[in-house]
Amino acid sequence: MSCRVCSGRLSEFADFGPQPISDAFVEPGDTREEFSFRLAVGICQTCTMVQLLEEVPRERMFHEAYPYLSSGSAVMREHFEALAKTLLATELAGPDPFVVELGCNDGTMLRSIADAGVRHLGVEPSGGVADLAAAKGVRVRKEFFEEATARRIRDTDGPADVVYAANTLCHIPYMESILSGVDALLRPDGVFVFEDPYLADILERASFDQIYDEHFYFFTAGSVQRMAQRSGFELVDVERLPVHGGEVRYTLARRGARRPGPAVAELLAAEGSAGITDPATLRRFTARVEHIRDALVELLTGLRDEGATVAGYGATAKSATVLNYCGIGPELVPFVCDTTPAKQGRLTPGSRIPVRSPEAFSGPYPDYALLFAWNHAEEIMAKERAFRESGGRWILYVPEVHVV
Ligand code: SAM
Ligand code: TMP
Ligand code: ZN
Repeated sequence: MSCRVCSGRLSEFADFGPQPISDAFVEPGDTREEFSFRLAVGICQTCTMVQLLEEVPRERMFHEAYPYLSSGSAVMREHFEALAKTLLATELAGPDPFVVELGCNDGTMLRSIADAGVRHLGVEPSGGVADLAAAKGVRVRKEFFEEATARRIRDTDGPADVVYAANTLCHIPYMESILSGVDALLRPDGVFVFEDPYLADILERASFDQIYDEHFYFFTAGSVQRMAQRSGFELVDVERLPVHGGEVRYTLARRGARRPGPAVAELLAAEGSAGITDPATLRRFTARVEHIRDALVELLTGLRDEGATVAGYGATAKSATVLNYCGIGPELVPFVCDTTPAKQGRLTPGSRIPVRSPEAFSGPYPDYALLFAWNHAEEIMAKERAFRESGGRWILYVPEVHVV
């Protein structure tokens, strides 16, 4: 196994065992064997890029029936509206600007760009969500972004001022093709802006459920800077974001085109002094994760034995790792509530827990709710205030198992 960025040697630091496709919710009665792969992570000894050791073929994850919807969270809708506004006022303020979004999903971000009458294109291989984007007036191509796609877009639409990707670049193992594509597509002084879960936040919060099939890379400023340099780019800005449990928005420009802002050196220095890629830090993370697994199983088993009722909240892709790694099934968590239409009425992958609409949550409320969508805790706890008021308690498992 070698690094997908630089071909360096990988050293494994965590193994979550056999796992299903995290977003492949199962039709009840479907007895076919689910796809399975070994979910393990390692760090490149040369460029420090943290990555999965086994790659799942992209068509197995991203297809017509891919269920995840960006618009499912009000906080995320506001987040993408704010980003669109910023881009419109800065990088897209010149004459006839053009922006391309990779993984535009249901068009939550690009809709604001379309509404402003600005030239744009979403590249989205998952057909169902791409149709939802088109229905919002977003121009979208149903395909995987890679170098050939980028060249075709450049030929038909001309150069882009901005290429943007949220929670998508970390999903794409074939990085060399992506960066060559961005190079072919961007204007000489254009920028590539992407935001993804930040390794330092994952290590600090022991949020091991950020590790699943779709999340292939776990970026840091250091690893992104080295990755950028290999393809003639430079890391010119970084911004920490509170969403999805802690992310960083990285800005790349062609080498020499823009002067790097002070935040880059600051974050690189912070990563160095925290030792986030040190073997000891990674070993500590693994030990914490094993402890969380044991504590969560013990808590849920104890609750079941004393007759308390438990429901899951948020049939997240993240929950696949938790459920399958901890060996939790419907005997400990009888159902999970989720707003996503394409997940409801199905079973969670591997663990086979029924997914129901949030209306099922209150009929009657369980004694405890295991919050898999902990990254949306504020939004969900506000929405479900009546659950707490009726005596219900939330169970969280990061940064450690606790009940609130
Ligand atoms: N950007 C949205 C957000 O932040 O909410 C969607 C994120 S979703 C987790 C990842 C998206 O990336 C999926 O809709 C998937 O179909 C898309 N995707 C995966 N590989 C891709 C590729 N090579 N090019 C473009 N999109 C891709
Ligand atoms: P995410 O953590 O990958 O964004 O997934 C969040 C999941 O939680 C998604 O399936 C939608 C679901 N969800 C709810 O059921 N209710 C909510 O209020 C929110 C914000 C999300
Ligand atoms: Zn490497």
